[in-house]
Amino acid sequence: MQRFSRITGTGSYLPPARLSNADMVARLAGQGIETSDDWIVERTGIRARHFAAAGVNSSDLAAEACRRALEAARLKPEDIDLIIVATSTPDMVFPSTACILQNKLGANGCPAFDVQAVCSGFVYALSVADAMIQNASASKALVVGAEVFSRILDFKDRTTCVLFGDGAGAVVLEASDRPGILATDLHADGRYVDILCTPGHVAEGGVLGDPLLKMDGQAVFKLAVGVLEESARAVLAKAGRQEAEIDWLIPHQANIRIMQSTAKKLKLPMEKVMVTVDQHGNTSAASIPLALDAGVRAGKIKPGDLLMLEGVGGGFTWGAVLLNF
Ligand code: ACO
Repeated sequence: MQRFSRITGTGSYLPPARLSNADMVARLAGQGIETSDDWIVERTGIRARHFAAAGVNSSDLAAEACRRALEAARLKPEDIDLIIVATSTPDMVFPSTACILQNKLGANGCPAFDVQAVCSGFVYALSVADAMIQNASASKALVVGAEVFSRILDFKDRTTCVLFGDGAGAVVLEASDRPGILATDLHADGRYVDILCTPGHVAEGGVLGDPLLKMDGQAVFKLAVGVLEESARAVLAKAGRQEAEIDWLIPHQANIRIMQSTAKKLKLPMEKVMVTVDQHGNTSAASIPLALDAGVRAGKIKPGDLLMLEGVGGGFTWGAVLLNF
């Protein structure tokens, strides 16, 4: 009998400190930098973001999201036999955030590792977990996206600092004889490393280079709308499904205009697009599982729904996962 993987529980967590656009306007004004609620909403759809308190790291946000996902799947941490964390803001250079998370959950012993594909990290991690479940390397996986992007924001650069926030989302992915994940599609193009990067690195007892996020927003925007359409079509073709069959498009929550453009290309009404970017901004690898969990807990996403998850981000990386929920 063929082995498949299915999502059996979702969870998410946003740190309590919420900064509205008005809060960001006030914070930046203190540094002589001008921005406005109108500009941010019109260009991005973002209305608020959450920032983790000092000393709270990606593994802490991940642990909260995982506890909620485990509860939803009616599993205990010790039932888990694989942990994959997608993050670009790890707690440490090493060990992995997945190992730190594993210890916080009390799920020690199973394989645990990080995936680094920036905002595509969750679709990368989900694809790897799916493959490991299909080949019987694992049966019950925690797949997590967790970020504290507030730590790498340049608050002197208004073109980037208003866009990002902190958060975590998780799913429990279990082996099943019924298909959950139907097809996956992953890509990277390293020629575009420089358009979205945090170039600093630890060396010689300090940080060498700039440790703050840099983005050529327009270059990212142009590439994103093209590759998201391609990846959506690729994953549909692999699964032999049609655009019109999609119940929910759950794209990386970076910018409402990119989501609208993707929906239009796939001829999907915005009512079929899960949008949470207004509430938490761009949380990189955490954004897709945050949006997924919001949809599930609101009762919008129902068992059996056909979901298209799509990520795009630094690298340049992109990909899609088509699944029956
Ligand atoms: N407040 C007010 N004005 C601003 C702000 C701000 N926060 N930021 C920029 N501006 C000004 C600029 O200075 C510029 O002014 P000028 O015309 O006088 O020079 C004007 O607004 C327009 O700036 P643009 O950069 O051209 O604005 P654009 O319409 O391209 O929007 C944005 C910028 C929102 C960043 C857009 O390019 C975008 O969404 N890009 C994609 C980002 C993305 O999706 N990233 C996903 C991947 S993230 C990851 O992988 C980590």
